[in-house]
Amino acid sequence: MSERVLRWGLLSTAHINRSVIPPLRQSSRNELVAVASREKDRARSYAQKWEIPHSYGSYEELLADPTIDVIYNSLPNGLHSEWTIKALQAGKHVLCEKPIAVTTAQVDAMAAAAQKAGKYLTEAFMYRHHPQTLKVKQLVKDGSIGKLRLVRGSFTFQIAKEEDIRLSSALDGGSIWDVGCYPISYARFIAGAEPEEVFGWQVTSQSGVDETFTGQMRFPGGVYAQFDSGFRSPFRTYIEIVGSEGMIIILKPFKPDDQGSFLLNRGDTVETITTESQMLYLGEVEDIADAILSGKAPRISLSDSRANVTTIVALLQSAREGKPVVLPKL
Ligand SMILES: NC(=O)c1ccc[n+]([C@@H]2O[C@H](COP(=O)([O-])OP(=O)(O)OC[C@H]3O[C@@H](n4cnc5c(N)ncnc54)[C@H](OP(=O)(O)O)[C@@H]3O)[C@@H](O)[C@H]2O)c1
Repeated sequence: MSERVLRWGLLSTAHINRSVIPPLRQSSRNELVAVASREKDRARSYAQKWEIPHSYGSYEELLADPTIDVIYNSLPNGLHSEWTIKALQAGKHVLCEKPIAVTTAQVDAMAAAAQKAGKYLTEAFMYRHHPQTLKVKQLVKDGSIGKLRLVRGSFTFQIAKEEDIRLSSALDGGSIWDVGCYPISYARFIAGAEPEEVFGWQVTSQSGVDETFTGQMRFPGGVYAQFDSGFRSPFRTYIEIVGSEGMIIILKPFKPDDQGSFLLNRGDTVETITTESQMLYLGEVEDIADAILSGKAPRISLSDSRANVTTIVALLQSAREGKPVVLPKL
């Protein structure tokens, strides 16, 4: 029996689209058919360059195309909520870039719109779908490093252009939203719980967004997490997971190579674990296709995304106020 092929539209000509276009082309259940830009000419030349059949000179026109099933929302952070809701109201499923939104009220409004429309909405945290991440989680869950004590992680890079959307407060830039969201998401995933209390420090830019953020999270049961994110240090990513009997070190936790690899250290032995090969951004595309075509719940639920946003909002509040913030129990 031939399966239905989902027709995708790109909401903007964002740089990140180039990571999602190859998996859309690799997947037999998905097809990239349109791109929209604020500028008609930009949409047209982008469509030509990437061999996309249709282009639209406004986001509204893309959403009005009745043949589109799924929208990939790759707009700046501050526009995720508004345009995801518009896409859902237009009857589209949405894969929305991280961070899904920048307030819990926005996430709630997006979830309500998805429910009302009867459409799927999920956050594009691609690392969560990769076999490397799933293997790390399984090992921790199976007790391979004993009782979980600490998760530590970083994501920094040197920002190249001062006009980057990441440095704009109007577009909800800042390093914690842009890259800090990864080690925070990773720690919550590994802890399998939400933090009870957080503390953060930040170095802010002239526009007021954080250029460097350092934070701590206290989880139930004596589990702690520490992370840093930033735009003014060299490219660095890592996650260290410490248990009572060993540790796991992952050098490419957020952007693993197709074949994942990490270290498992127990006693005197250090083992390199490699995982099955998968194109990094394929998982998120197949995951939402599974949801739409088979009714399988997306791997990243909206309550999971909401909890990540809640944690980041609390960390930013802590950094502003210079004191720990206790999170409300969910
Ligand atoms: N998952 C990942 O690996 C990953 C990696 C990078 C980025 N991201 C996320 O993807 C999103 C986009 O990031 P990016 O680096 O790809 O951004 P980008 O290249 O700056 O693209 C953003 C796009 O948004 C549109 N846009 C609409 N209003 C805008 C405004 N006022 N200012 C600037 N652009 C505006 C523009 O498209 P048009 O002019 O064509 O309308 C622009 O090309 C962010 O939310 C980011 O967090 C995710």
